Amino acid sequence: MKCKRCAAKATVQLRSHNTAFCKECFVFFFQRNVERSIERERMFTREEPVLVAVSGGKDSLALWDTLVTLGYRTEGLYLGLGIGAYSAASQRKAEAYAAARDLPLRIMRLEEEGDGLAIPEAAFFTRRQPCAACGTFKRHHFDRAALDGGFAVLATGHNLDDEAARLLGNVLHWQLPYLAKQHPVLTPTHPKFVRKVRPLYRTSEYESATYAFLRGIDYVVEECPNSHGATQLVYKDLLNRLEETMPGSKLAFVSDFLRHAHPLFAGAPDSPAGECARCGMPAFAELCGYCRLVAEIERRRSQAVAHS
Ligand code: AMP
Ligand code: FES
Ligand code: ZN
Repeated sequence: MKCKRCAAKATVQLRSHNTAFCKECFVFFFQRNVERSIERERMFTREEPVLVAVSGGKDSLALWDTLVTLGYRTEGLYLGLGIGAYSAASQRKAEAYAAARDLPLRIMRLEEEGDGLAIPEAAFFTRRQPCAACGTFKRHHFDRAALDGGFAVLATGHNLDDEAARLLGNVLHWQLPYLAKQHPVLTPTHPKFVRKVRPLYRTSEYESATYAFLRGIDYVVEECPNSHGATQLVYKDLLNRLEETMPGSKLAFVSDFLRHAHPLFAGAPDSPAGECARCGMPAFAELCGYCRLVAEIERRRSQAVAHS
């Protein structure tokens, strides 16, 4: 098979796009697709500073690499979640990537932040799935870091597979408020929030893994040991089977939703009315969701100490 762009021998076949590329042309194709997504959705300009949340995985490192190559102003942010060997390995990969290219990377570790609570401890004391607390912690610390650092935008590496699985879950349960919020660009609903964008929303997990491999990016291959939401994996598996027989289904599902259905769900977004009495970030009640969670963990922790 020949490369569609230069007619050399193709090494990457993309059934979803009914095409194939050689190594150089695939890298070009990937970067151009990301640039098109950024421009089509008006995510950010080359003048705006972008904070890129980098987990050490293939997607966020492929994203950062692409943004740097395209000449955007970026800085990386790694958040240490305190999940044993997995977090240590992820941090090493993120640091090694930044150091080798002389890129600025902020490192924050939950164990060292104000509340000193890492994910395993939070999950233990709330008796909930670690991923639930993890999402709240990540959102809070990403928002805070973007605000404190004076960034206009926060970018994450969510890819097409993530978006399609999330959409399937939201549609199966007709989660109207979540469908309203499912968009690659979230406009701030409070002056202390920054714009949140997902520039890889049209590129598949396979494409970002291939891109990372071809660019010599060393990323953490293991998944989080907390299995990362079993239902999300069931949806991904279903969508992969659909994609196998009908290539291009994931992309059509997500992009047709955004074009035809999202406008029907998107009303005026809920704006937090005030600021959290404890941390000062936007909040719907006296405390923000993060501080309510921290307060619950601290209460249960002191009860445990009192009973021991
Ligand atoms: P996940 O929620 O693990 O699927 O990750 C989605 C995106 O969130 C990644 O592509 C990153 O951009 C970001 N992210 C996840 N975990 C971290 C982390 N520990 N530090 C920085 N960014 C992260
Ligand atoms: Fe958050 Fe696994 S619990 S990444
Ligand atoms: Zn708060």
